[in-house]
Amino acid sequence: RTVFHYQDNVLSCEDVRLDDLAGIYGTPLFVTSKRSLQGSLREFEAAFASLPHITCYSVKANFNLSVIGTLAEMGCGCDVNSGGELFRALKAGVSPEKIIFAGVGKKPEEIAFALEAGVLMLKVESLSELEAIERIASEKGITAPVALRINPNVTAETHPYITTGDSKEKFGIDEAGLEEAFTLLRLMKHVRLVCLDMHIGSQIFDPEYYVAATAVLLDIFETARSLGFSIEYLDIGGGFPVTYDARKPATPITYFAEKLIPLLAAAGVPVIFEPGRFLVANASVLLSRILYKKTNHTGKQFFIVDAGMTELIRPALYQSHHEVLAVTRHEKTVVADVVGPVCESSDFFARQRAIDDAAEGELLAVMSSGAYAAVMSSNYNGRLRPAEVMVDGNEVTVIRRRETYEQLIANEVL
Ligand code: LLP
Repeated sequence: RTVFHYQDNVLSCEDVRLDDLAGIYGTPLFVTSKRSLQGSLREFEAAFASLPHITCYSVKANFNLSVIGTLAEMGCGCDVNSGGELFRALKAGVSPEKIIFAGVGKKPEEIAFALEAGVLMLKVESLSELEAIERIASEKGITAPVALRINPNVTAETHPYITTGDSKEKFGIDEAGLEEAFTLLRLMKHVRLVCLDMHIGSQIFDPEYYVAATAVLLDIFETARSLGFSIEYLDIGGGFPVTYDARKPATPITYFAEKLIPLLAAAGVPVIFEPGRFLVANASVLLSRILYKKTNHTGKQFFIVDAGMTELIRPALYQSHHEVLAVTRHEKTVVADVVGPVCESSDFFARQRAIDDAAEGELLAVMSSGAYAAVMSSNYNGRLRPAEVMVDGNEVTVIRRRETYEQLIANEVL
């Protein structure tokens, strides 16, 4: 039995009915299963158990304090991409020595914050950034542990907006820049190279892309060692896939582990993984109420719901597929567009999809809304960010309160 399942024809999360949750907390509402989060982390850890490693959850996927906290409680570290995410990870109780700080454009104050917090390492994405870290560390009279983010020039097959390991993208340092990076690193007194890092993209189904990029990373590892750098970790990033559409099931994580463990074990240093989506995507749904149904002159049907692209932008931005389920099951299905209230044509969750013929006032659940959903939400159209609850068995906790109109204007001056 999966965490989201029908019980007496009503979609439930663990032991709690989603219609009950909507009644109490209102809609739109993100509902997250604690057991699903824990189960995904266990599954990931089991797959890579035989390899010495640190799992650093990429909090950009879902940075809710309770989500980070749930994973941190089980020993997970974090990958953060800004001062704000670092702040969140620390507030959620992650110890700084398990936090790695990434990002192509870190500001001096963010670098200073990370150094003061004592993070495990800062990833370097350009030579100028390396110089900035050296300068800030020297001002503080400390040595900064750094990772070089390598651009392995492997183009993984995924949506073009989420591929990152191709040399035409802005990420990392490509092979041509490495010699200079090593020269600089040898001269610098306040940075210490501890890790070589890569991240080739997101939602990557084929392990061969990792294998190819890891080969590049291992090559550079050899070079770095021969130059006298004692590299203590190898970081192969995140990107492990999940199933959004049952017709296109994700490659099991064990398959990635099988291919990667022998390669990485040979290096003889602990490996850092940065899964984001894998740990959280299928742990949450976005619950919304059907406001209106309408049929146009061609017979095309629309379900207009009270959630929109402001809460889940993935269909609009990446043409992503998310299952849409009626919370109360119906025998009859209809083919319809499920759309939100935002004044954009891209404000849809599903187009021409067969869904249960639920009535106005009933609930729809947009599935797999745990990753890159709430974190990418916005106040566009004056919309309030939704509430979030976490379910653990039959217990429900509000992990983010619904925004209010007052909060909407709190920082503005008239
Ligand atoms: N590490 C780094 C350096 C990253 O940039 C990312 C994601 C991850 C780890 C985690 O990747 P994951 O395991 O979640 O695939 N908004 C897009 C995804 C953007 C991913 C950005 N970087 C989406 O909704 O599909």
